[in-house]
Amino acid sequence: MKLKSIRLIKKYFWQLGIALAILASIAIYAIAPALTQQPVVLNLLMTAPDAQPWQQGIVKDFETKYPGIRINVIEGPNATNLLEDLYTSAFILGDSPYDLVNMDVIWTPKFAAAGWLKDLSNEFSAEELAVFSPNDIEGSRYEGKLYRVPIRSDAGVLYYRQDLLSAAGYQPPETFDELLQISQALQKKNKDTWGYLWQGRQYEGLVAMFVEVLEGYGGFWVNPTTKEVGLDQPETIQAIEFLRNTVKTGVSPPGVTTYQEEETRRIFQSGKAVFLRSWPYVWPLANEDSSPIKGRIGIKPMVSAPGKSAGTCLGGWGLGIAKSSPHQKEAMTAIRYFTSNEAQRNFILKAGYVPSRRELFNDAEIVAKYSYYPQLLNIVGSSVLRPAIAQYAQASDILQRYLSAALTNSLTPEQAMKAAAKETRLLLGKK
Ligand code: GLC
Repeated sequence: MKLKSIRLIKKYFWQLGIALAILASIAIYAIAPALTQQPVVLNLLMTAPDAQPWQQGIVKDFETKYPGIRINVIEGPNATNLLEDLYTSAFILGDSPYDLVNMDVIWTPKFAAAGWLKDLSNEFSAEELAVFSPNDIEGSRYEGKLYRVPIRSDAGVLYYRQDLLSAAGYQPPETFDELLQISQALQKKNKDTWGYLWQGRQYEGLVAMFVEVLEGYGGFWVNPTTKEVGLDQPETIQAIEFLRNTVKTGVSPPGVTTYQEEETRRIFQSGKAVFLRSWPYVWPLANEDSSPIKGRIGIKPMVSAPGKSAGTCLGGWGLGIAKSSPHQKEAMTAIRYFTSNEAQRNFILKAGYVPSRRELFNDAEIVAKYSYYPQLLNIVGSSVLRPAIAQYAQASDILQRYLSAALTNSLTPEQAMKAAAKETRLLLGKK
């Protein structure tokens, strides 16, 4: 009896073993190609706050749709100029790890002139490009060729506390003087409240904010066609005096000259300021359930001097392809997907950024969430590109340094701008 059962176990043991072996070989046959075919990984560097909505949203959607491609989002510093430095040094040193280039609108001329980017002109037809805001496309070209496709637009706007203004019977301001007057009046009524917040730190955000004030006074920085420099003109001095006055009169905090976008947003969002100059990304955050100013804010174009038009700085980000990338085809697939209507809708709905595709500003679902988007389309439409010159980074650095010196009182506005104009003319080969 014992012997018989041992023999049975042996018999079935062998049968079971053979069956398992067959199953395993089928499984290996089926799985092996998937195991050996590693997905192509596309590296993409962006600012840390940008990385989150990318990773949580459109990157996942893309990878589901294209399982053979992975997007490796690398989180970089939260300042466009620092991010640009990282890309620049990687390209200069050669052997750059980046396949896709997430580019601020101001980088196009420099990156294109340096030969770091693939020319995308033949990849997108005129009809395909016509769906984007013309400003964003203009900021994506260099010497007539296309080097980036806009993924999100941006434009400087003025936020105001609708509740505080209405309670005191004020309309939102239209001029610089009104902005100061309303600030002071509301600061008297509301203890521990600043009037106006702006980005005053020495970095690219300072320049983006300043070009709006400069334009509001009728001045200019650099004419990209003639390379004429307007920094030592009286309008530039008036623009700086306005900003200095905001601090002198206590309308803006003394620390404003050290603030980037996020510092100003946090103060505004905590309910401690009447006005804020920033980008549209602030809106969804300031309207979160946990925000003390939820439902209490308005948004409008920047103010100007009487009779002058309001300046709006065009910002925004787009994707280019590094010429050095070994994955040109996959990078193109990624750009096409990320700039598609489907991806942009999801991205905008989740992240609250400004669409680059014009039809999305009036999309029902988007407008239901961000009611001011139709109005924003006009603001973006009238926004102005910072000078599209290959030496932009150096020109901006000169302005940042001297503007900061004037705002922190280490030079008078006249001294600072005389020197800034001289250095800029030297840079651009103008006498
Ligand atoms: C935003 C804009 C960008 C600008 C930057 C300045 O990210 O989109 O164009 O250069 O702010 O801080």
